[in-house]
Amino acid sequence: MKSHLPTHVAFIMDGNGRWAQKRGLARLKGHAAGVETVRSVCEELSKLGVEYVTFYTFSTENWKRPWEEVSGLFTLMRSYFKSELNTIIEKGLRIRFIGDRGEGTKLPADILELMNEVEAKTAHNTKLHATFAINYSGRDELLRAARKLAAEGTEITADTFETALDTHGLPDPDFIIRTSGEQRISNFLLWQIAYAELYFCDAAWPDFTATHLQAALSAYTTRQRRFGAVPATTAA
Ligand code: FPP
Repeated sequence: MKSHLPTHVAFIMDGNGRWAQKRGLARLKGHAAGVETVRSVCEELSKLGVEYVTFYTFSTENWKRPWEEVSGLFTLMRSYFKSELNTIIEKGLRIRFIGDRGEGTKLPADILELMNEVEAKTAHNTKLHATFAINYSGRDELLRAARKLAAEGTEITADTFETALDTHGLPDPDFIIRTSGEQRISNFLLWQIAYAELYFCDAAWPDFTATHLQAALSAYTTRQRRFGAVPATTAA
């Protein structure tokens, strides 16, 4: 399957809250279970040889959730990136973060420091490029990029615009997987997914296993990507 694998898979990790509520647990337990899925998906993608993965971890809209849930999510991030950092380095993962980290950001100072540390300490790794979208939304990223170019007085072209995006240096995702049965994009990577293939899976994110991943990747291999062109066989 390797030759047909996507270079970059991006995940909308949905369904944590419902997964927990179905079990009579606090929503945060669903997010904690979701961290295990992040770990296993990274492992599986590394094994398969997929080079880039992006996880929609905390959107700019997620601040509207109860503070208990928001601060619980930051606790999970702290604990994952602190306790796993050595393993992440050993496994050759290069971690990046996208999202608003600029002046006035609502992200806690220690989370910002941790993000910088994790990026710096994994900067030379090449096995799997894993990007976490935190305090991120597609519209916010587009506005920040446009404002940056305007403030610099830079001419806006597709190339300069891409350079101003948080994802600068990353290939566009080929394949977006959203779990838990919802079929929408929810303000994720709006510029970058112009030609991505979309895949919706009914399993909640904590229940998303290697088998679900393989089924998704196998569906990807059957897609014909045309990028607006006509297939070679039908060209006049
Ligand atoms: C959406 O499910 C999920 C989120 C808003 C958070 C995803 C975060 C994690 C899986 C934790 C990641 C942390 C690390 C360290 C990588 P939802 O809560 O909206 O689910 P629902 O639609 O069932 O309510």
